[in-house]
Amino acid sequence: MYHVSVLLHESIDALRIVPNGIYVDATFGGGGHAGLILEKLAGKGHLFAFDQDNDAMQNAAADLFAESANFTFVHSNFRHLKQQVRSEGVKPGGVQGILADLGVSSHQLDSAERGFSYRFDAPLDMRMDTREGITAADILNQYTVVELQRVFGDLGEVRNAKTLAEAVVKVRESNQFRNTVTLVDLCEKYFLGDRMRYRSQVFQALRMEVNDELGALEDFLQASYEMLAPDGILAVIAFHSLEDRMVKNFLKTGNTKGEMKKDFYGNIERPWQLVTKKAIEPSASEVSRNVRSRSSKLRVGKKIMLQ
Ligand SMILES: C[S@@+](CC[C@H](N)C(=O)[O-])C[C@H]1O[C@@H](n2cnc3c(N)ncnc32)[C@H](O)[C@@H]1O
Repeated sequence: MYHVSVLLHESIDALRIVPNGIYVDATFGGGGHAGLILEKLAGKGHLFAFDQDNDAMQNAAADLFAESANFTFVHSNFRHLKQQVRSEGVKPGGVQGILADLGVSSHQLDSAERGFSYRFDAPLDMRMDTREGITAADILNQYTVVELQRVFGDLGEVRNAKTLAEAVVKVRESNQFRNTVTLVDLCEKYFLGDRMRYRSQVFQALRMEVNDELGALEDFLQASYEMLAPDGILAVIAFHSLEDRMVKNFLKTGNTKGEMKKDFYGNIERPWQLVTKKAIEPSASEVSRNVRSRSSKLRVGKKIMLQ
């Protein structure tokens, strides 16, 4: 199984799919969400599915998707949503719904050689797009203590981020980071609280830094607003509190910092109407079937045209 989709029906229902509509699934992964969108389109409209991971592209090609005339796979970071969809002939304002299901797929976590998981000894890579970019090993071997502290502290919410950052720099003086095992050994020495949770936080922090996940989300959200039609729907599933906060702020104010802006007449600008006031979370039964869904939050907004 490539990936078990999270909040599948909740997110696709939220898109309120209309036949002939143009949709974007920004995170194809195992294609669970994409498959349901295509089913609802019933041979009409079009779905553009993004994924920067080569395995996801192979997965799409191997599946029935490849034969569907109303499906296009885009092997790209979703931060390039606007350029990519425009290059397919869709103008800004021409998209009816956009979905993003952030983070990694189970396939990525279970592919030992990718280095995403502390469960396997493998090169510290962690790039979703292996065509470019820095690896987790590069970060551990090159970042300063201050930069490493930011990564562990801000992205991983590691409580002793400074101690861990200093330890990384000390270790690499004699032994460059290459494989996950060196990092796991370090976690073993410095963990506070729950051992497994600590490892997850450290690995997650590095993964987010390697893939610039917050930067990509920022660009994607801005591009989504431009590409959506009036009344178009944006649905985002986030697993990390920083990402969820960015999405929440964006839907409230039009920017990820949550700064209220006023128009010429002094009225607060509201570029989105919240489709649900609170985030939608998985049911107890979904969490019991798929523990990975535990921290997921779905937020949905409808685009309002600013005057
Ligand atoms: C949680 S999985 C998506 C699962 C999918 N919704 C399903 O039902 O199978 C996230 C996927 O998004 C991809 N991804 C994450 N960030 C991305 C980005 N910035 N650009 C493009 N793809 C990204 C990952 O490679 C991964 O395959």
